[in-house]
Amino acid sequence: MSQHSLLLGLPLLILTITPAITACSPSDLSALLSFKSSLQESSIGIFNTWTGTECCNNWYGVSCNPDTQRVADINLRGESEDPVFEKLGKTGYMTGLISSSVCKIDSLTLLVIADWKGISGSIPSCIASLPKLRVLDLIGNSLSGPIPSNIGALSKLKVLNLADNQLSGPIPSSLAQMQDLRHLDLSNNKLSGNIPQNIGNLRMLSRALLSRNDFSGEIPISVTNLKRLADLDLSINHLSGEIPSQIGQMPVLSTLNLDNNFFTGPIPPSILASTGINILNISRNGIEGNIPDVFGPRSYFSVMDLSYNKLKGNVPKSLSSVKYVGHLDLSFNHLCGPIPSGAPFDHLEGSSFSNNDCLCGSPLMHTC
Ligand SMILES: *[C@@H]1O[C@H](CO)[C@@H](O)[C@H](O)[C@H]1NC(C)=O
Repeated sequence: MSQHSLLLGLPLLILTITPAITACSPSDLSALLSFKSSLQESSIGIFNTWTGTECCNNWYGVSCNPDTQRVADINLRGESEDPVFEKLGKTGYMTGLISSSVCKIDSLTLLVIADWKGISGSIPSCIASLPKLRVLDLIGNSLSGPIPSNIGALSKLKVLNLADNQLSGPIPSSLAQMQDLRHLDLSNNKLSGNIPQNIGNLRMLSRALLSRNDFSGEIPISVTNLKRLADLDLSINHLSGEIPSQIGQMPVLSTLNLDNNFFTGPIPPSILASTGINILNISRNGIEGNIPDVFGPRSYFSVMDLSYNKLKGNVPKSLSSVKYVGHLDLSFNHLCGPIPSGAPFDHLEGSSFSNNDCLCGSPLMHTC
């Protein structure tokens, strides 16, 4: 009898110990409480769960490393598929500041404070001292001021997403030290200056999204060394100079958006001959010369937008040999002559060719 009750008591003992194991280190607890106190969120009430001393237990968006019992993730998304949000049928809104106390949680590997719209102030520069950080995602707030100049000290960072804020100033040149960076999204801020010459050092980079800023200067040639870059978006900036022809030889590049800048010079033939690039937008620049007649049957373009440039000459015949063209836009140039016929052209409308100098033939109304 007494043996039985001993055996039954054992699991109970483990259960009562478990919460103590995953409680919260006192330093993490005080840092989290101080982080919370500089933010205000009442529409969902996520911080109502941040009470007591067991931050590893059911604090919304907080998770701990079970081995070290230290806080590993802070994952707070204002637009989330989380059932808490779906049930309330609304997205989050949070105001306040990102307190530098978050930098005291030196075991953090993931810091996501995303899509809360109203969080303002600057990114605390001490964030660069979080030695284990792999993901820093602050998209969709109202953060202003510079990207911390020492950000490159985050040597383990894989994802840096600061898009959709009001950040200003340059891309710190230290950024190129992030040997593990895969995903860089700085879109839709007020960043300015040149794209750092050393950006080609980011060996692992697969997405570089810099659109909708005030970047100027030329595309650094080192970008074309990025062997893993699949997505390069530099659209809606003030970039100028010629498009480096080596871009067309990048091994895995599939999306190239250079639209709405001040690029001049010709379209490098390698870009149109590329079999990897399938989204190409160079609309609204000062690109001049003929469209190179270099298309081949292995090319596949879901988007090819060359509109609003200074292109002249014919629509190249080889364009009708490509495997597929989804959205083609050659409008608002100075093209002339007959529009080639062939399968890739069958579904296109006149608007793809409108406002040129003297194009003729189907799908335009002018016969040749
Ligand atoms: C290409 O870029 C222009 C200018 O930014 C934009 O208006 C257009 O919608 C883009 N084309 C496509 C197909 O996305």
